Amino acid sequence: MAFNQDSLNGISLSKINPNYLHANSTSHVWAFGAIAELIDNAYDPDVKASHISIDKIDINKIPCLVFVDNGAGMNREQLLKMLSLGCCDKDKYDSPKHKTIGKYGNGFKSGSMRLGKDVIIFTRRIEKACVGLLSQTYLKAIDADSVIVPILEYSTSANILFYMLARKEYIIRV
Ligand SMILES: Nc1ncnc2c1ncn2[C@@H]1O[C@H](COP(=O)(O)OP(=O)(O)O)[C@@H](O)[C@H]1O
Ligand SMILES: [Mg+2]
Repeated sequence: MAFNQDSLNGISLSKINPNYLHANSTSHVWAFGAIAELIDNAYDPDVKASHISIDKIDINKIPCLVFVDNGAGMNREQLLKMLSLGCCDKDKYDSPKHKTIGKYGNGFKSGSMRLGKDVIIFTRRIEKACVGLLSQTYLKAIDADSVIVPILEYSTSANILFYMLARKEYIIRV
């Protein structure tokens, strides 16, 4: 695996090796703890979903878990934060009436990677929708030396994928 050194103003940037995705997920001793992380995210005050469904489907004979919530969704910047480690700005939504559950910016990564090797996220706000990928299979296939997360953003008004995407938020390949 090539180790490319990236820097900011000449100062080296620390990297997250793709293997860390699995290592981090081992904090969940059982799968239900990982599922709870994804339910917590739908409940949290920045998302405030009133409904969440969890289903198991097969795609090309590969079992997948599908989590769908009707919460606030994410724009591109928020989706990138979700796919990053340690980024969390939920504090501003915290109130005595609705306390945040997550606070370390880790639950989605540890939870999804405990349930499967790959997760694809479909999310939308009013005008824009995004698709994001956190995939150990992909990172291995391209021999990545750090975690890269492809994100596609598009306008919902002009896209026929809209109907499909509006119905699915996470598909996790297990
Ligand atoms: N279902 C969701 N809908 C909208 N935003 C979400 C959802 N799940 C996670 N997020 C966003 O991703 C961020 C990171 O989530 P997560 O990794 O679980 O961190 P934390 O452990 O702090 O909850 C959250 O702060 C939230 O803004
Ligand atoms: Mg969380």
